[in-house]
Amino acid sequence: MSTLPAPALALHPGDATDLDEVMATMEAAFAPSFGEAWTRSQCAGILHLPGVWLLLARVDGRPAGFALARSVVDEAELLLLAVPPAERRGGVGRTMLDAIAGEALARGATHLHLEMRDGNPAARLYAGAGFCEVGRRPRYYRGRDGRSFDAITLSCALTNDDASAANTTS
Ligand SMILES: CC(C)(COP(=O)(O)OP(=O)(O)OC[C@H]1O[C@@H](n2cnc3c(N)ncnc32)[C@H](O)[C@@H]1OP(=O)(O)O)[C@@H](O)C(=O)NCCC(=O)NCCS
Repeated sequence: MSTLPAPALALHPGDATDLDEVMATMEAAFAPSFGEAWTRSQCAGILHLPGVWLLLARVDGRPAGFALARSVVDEAELLLLAVPPAERRGGVGRTMLDAIAGEALARGATHLHLEMRDGNPAARLYAGAGFCEVGRRPRYYRGRDGRSFDAITLSCALTNDDASAANTTS
């Protein structure tokens, strides 16, 4: 019996020319009912700001997710992390999160922060990566039907263990 080769995950830096891929993943990954997704113009606008970077994930060459982050002096923020449903639970999200942490550290950040909708199962991913809850913004997200959801602010201190993760980016 032959054994299939393991899928090859690769991370690549992205830019504004990758917006079609980013928006396809955005649409597949975020349910409109929660109001977490960004519009194309929001993504395009932020990509031009200093300190912002985009990371793309590909599995066997096909789009498998993206992460968007920014760093300002010694603080970094993970703005978006998304993996399309078909690619989930294979380690793509954690690999991108580790790479963002490594890159943030390389850019001089000591902490990585993020906002997450209260109740998002991504909480398990972030807890496993060492993030802790540091705050809450009531009714921060507004879904398509008008319902609102609190945002939980999570933070993680960056260590030299995160530095090696930046090297996974090709
Ligand atoms: C959150 C998200 C990026 C995770 O991507 P992923 O590639 O599936 O994550 P990983 O496979 O690296 O998960 C690593 C670990 O995190 C935890 N985890 C990830 N997704 C989980 C889920 N839906 N439920 C419970 N635990 C989860 C698990 O412990 C998992 O390890 P395991 O699969 O061995 O049990 C993806 O589900 C997603 O795009 N969700 C919609 C967009 C979103 O909410 N993004 C976060 C906004 S803050």
